[in-house]
Amino acid sequence: MLKQDKAYKQAIDVKTELETWVNDLQQYLKPEKVHWCDGSEEEYNQLCQLLVDKGTFIKLNPEKRPNSYACFSDPSDVARVEDKTFICSRRKEDAGPTNNWMAPDEMKKIFNQLLEGTMKGRTMYIIPFCMGPVGSPLSRYGIEITDSEYVVTNMRIMTRMGAHILPYIYEKGYVKCLHTIGAPLEEGQEDAKWPCNPTVKYISHFPEERLIISYGSGYGGNALLGKKCFALRIASVMGREEGWLAEHMLILGVENAKKEKTYVAAAFPSACGKTNFAMMIPPKEFEGWKVTTVGDDIAWIHKGKDGGLYAINPEAGYFGVAPGTNEKTNPNAIASIKENTIFTNVAITPDGDVWWEGFTKEVPDGLIDWHGQPYDKNSGKPAAHPNSRFTAPAYLNPALDPDWDKPEGVHIEAFIFGGRRSTGVPLVYQTFNWNFGVYLASTMGSEMTAAAFGEIGKVRRDPFAMLPFMGYHMGDYVNHWLDFGRDLPNAPRIFSVNWFRKDKDGNFIWPGFGQNVRVLQWVVNRVHGGAGAVESPLGWMPRYQDLNWDGLDFSEEQFASIMTIDREPMKQEMFGHEELFEKMYDKLPKEFFYMRELLLSALWRSPEKWSLQPESE
Ligand code: GTP
Ligand code: SPV
Ligand code: MN
Repeated sequence: MLKQDKAYKQAIDVKTELETWVNDLQQYLKPEKVHWCDGSEEEYNQLCQLLVDKGTFIKLNPEKRPNSYACFSDPSDVARVEDKTFICSRRKEDAGPTNNWMAPDEMKKIFNQLLEGTMKGRTMYIIPFCMGPVGSPLSRYGIEITDSEYVVTNMRIMTRMGAHILPYIYEKGYVKCLHTIGAPLEEGQEDAKWPCNPTVKYISHFPEERLIISYGSGYGGNALLGKKCFALRIASVMGREEGWLAEHMLILGVENAKKEKTYVAAAFPSACGKTNFAMMIPPKEFEGWKVTTVGDDIAWIHKGKDGGLYAINPEAGYFGVAPGTNEKTNPNAIASIKENTIFTNVAITPDGDVWWEGFTKEVPDGLIDWHGQPYDKNSGKPAAHPNSRFTAPAYLNPALDPDWDKPEGVHIEAFIFGGRRSTGVPLVYQTFNWNFGVYLASTMGSEMTAAAFGEIGKVRRDPFAMLPFMGYHMGDYVNHWLDFGRDLPNAPRIFSVNWFRKDKDGNFIWPGFGQNVRVLQWVVNRVHGGAGAVESPLGWMPRYQDLNWDGLDFSEEQFASIMTIDREPMKQEMFGHEELFEKMYDKLPKEFFYMRELLLSALWRSPEKWSLQPESE
């Protein structure tokens, strides 16, 4: 057969297979209607109107927030459910010790009971979507089937979605994403404003089949299946097989005063600052410095022919944390949500606009809280849910990088890893080399946040900020990273940061946000061989004089207080690594034992408080 004929036959095969899948599901799920999404603006507007009619969406005041909507979820459905998230690989050891595992057959047995007739009284939407620049060899395709209009409208903002994606799907194949809120509607029954299954939820992944089935939740990462389920859990498996990386990372471009551009990717766990870092505006003293956004949550990273690493952002919008976002902390986010935005679980002002904790200093009167009730300022409870979010299109971001949609991606020269740590972990250091960088990333700890159900504030090991998003064995993943770096002619430098160290009174010591550019400047200069540093037990560290302090009143003592390595707590931290290592002992890279020994013995011999000017003490 000619090559062209082959491609044609493949396209017909995929098309037929897709139609069969949709027909079978229609028989089984029993929706009232089936709708193939075309991705048009009319369709979006109609669905938003339908959601307004159902009482799910509240249309915001068009003078304040044009073409934007707010909604309140069911209180049982406000964040990712990690304990209900499963990797259903055929073999248990392929899911590894950090994932919930269930045998595919067993999970499907459960679904056989749950799914029959689950879309009764609802419309089944078929969403063709693309993760990444359309047509790029680095992009991947998906079909999400859902009975939630909320999901369709959010997917239109978060992905490249619509009928124009189908030809690519026929050519390249697709990941199957089946989602249901798990709330069939019997005839005559009144629908809930946020229908979902308040008690039964399963977010399940079948990596070998490239299949996702999500049941019972309508929220964020549980329901917008292109995001965490596909672009991280399934894509991590694809990446391992095909030799690339799917990462929970922002991608930013930074331009210095000489107009030299460097791209950096950074992994911070959920609600630990990715969106803010990716959209940062440097303070005015940093004349000529500019930060541009390629992505704020996910990076797919491939090796280029020149041996460099190239990253694309598979998404097309931002599903960002609302609380804490304001004109000062993140002006670019504020601009990105000025119109065409969907808000979930924020509070609403009497004049039909949105509000959340940290939006303004004063709490406005007459708020409606995220439960849809009049807000009592003295209740001691927040008006917006701590994991309330905005869904905003990337094109509204004034800092959007000109190459953000470039099919070949952008050239990454540094990786940054950071968690939320009130004590112990310094503001910034550079690891000695790629292997030490992988060690650092693998053993990263972070305090848990409201982005997932769990014990907020508890430190947990979150390797590469990927703990909740890994599609296979964490030990294999760590080895994949080590292998990936081995033959890079000029591997990106690897850094650790922590914006969240607190003083005795519980206040953040580091001003953060736009001021983080001082750290970013040091990082970029290190990459290009131009910034000073001293060797510490952990890696290379800037001295006070190695950072630019123009326009910020931050004393040498304050700096020392977030750079000191406290020997005993840091030793405890290292012992904490053991807990993770023990879980994946059989897959642990040999290098790790030696690196740990090296780090520990360096600490052992360091002063009780290793500080940047040990000679002056
Ligand atoms: P996900 O979307 O869950 O993956 O979160 P994210 O990593 O993108 O975090 P985001 O940038 O949305 O920040 C989460 C919270 O941390 C928000 O309330 C921010 O205001 C706050 N935050 C972000 N950057 C900083 C910082 O540099 N310092 C301090 N103190 N807080 C920050
Ligand atoms: C995260 O939790 O890291 C998010 C939000 O980005 S969600 O899409 O719900 O996963
Ligand atoms: Mn995230």
